[in-house]
Amino acid sequence: MDLRKYIRDIPDFPQKGILFRDLTPLMGDKDAFNYTVKEIADHFRTFHVDKVAAIEARGFIFGAPIAKELGAGFVPIRKPGKLPYEVVRKEFQLEYGMSILELHKDAFKKGERVLMIDDLLATGGTALAASELVESLGAEIVGWGFVVILKNLKGEEKIGKYHIFSLVNFD
Ligand code: PRP
Ligand code: HPA
Repeated sequence: MDLRKYIRDIPDFPQKGILFRDLTPLMGDKDAFNYTVKEIADHFRTFHVDKVAAIEARGFIFGAPIAKELGAGFVPIRKPGKLPYEVVRKEFQLEYGMSILELHKDAFKKGERVLMIDDLLATGGTALAASELVESLGAEIVGWGFVVILKNLKGEEKIGKYHIFSLVNFD
């Protein structure tokens, strides 16, 4: 299935000079959305995933149904001030500004096998920060799944030590 048809380019969003790849048409199409979730889940089906961890907000949209497909648990990695229990936190650089991610301290047991999911890999700052949070709790990352990778921003170099899978790549 050609998912590119369901990805819309928005110039100068959220600020001038950024070409934003909008996945809402893909999410809104039942065939494209179900195909996306199933393809990513199928890729990782043999990886023995205990939990899927996904990143607020757009990562949740794909992460939760992928967890369901794999019969795995789901762990949210959130923007600051949203998680109610004790957290570990990490500040990092984003393509357009700074950001912080938080994770509940008891989200993983030592050695649990975690599949990391986000909608899109750009500079890799988000993915690297999320990886560090998960590993700081003693869990093992079995791979990263994305719907889209923006190749020219070289995010794969930041998380190069992990197995990476994506369905659509843009140069
Ligand atoms: C976007 C996207 C990724 C991240 C990728 O999220 O969903 O999480 O940026 O960028 P990076 O690879 O350069 O770090 P955003 O922070 O815009 O938040 P949202 O999902 O809440 O819209
Ligand atoms: N599209 C969607 N999300 C993003 C982008 C983009 O181009 N860059 C960083 N997050």
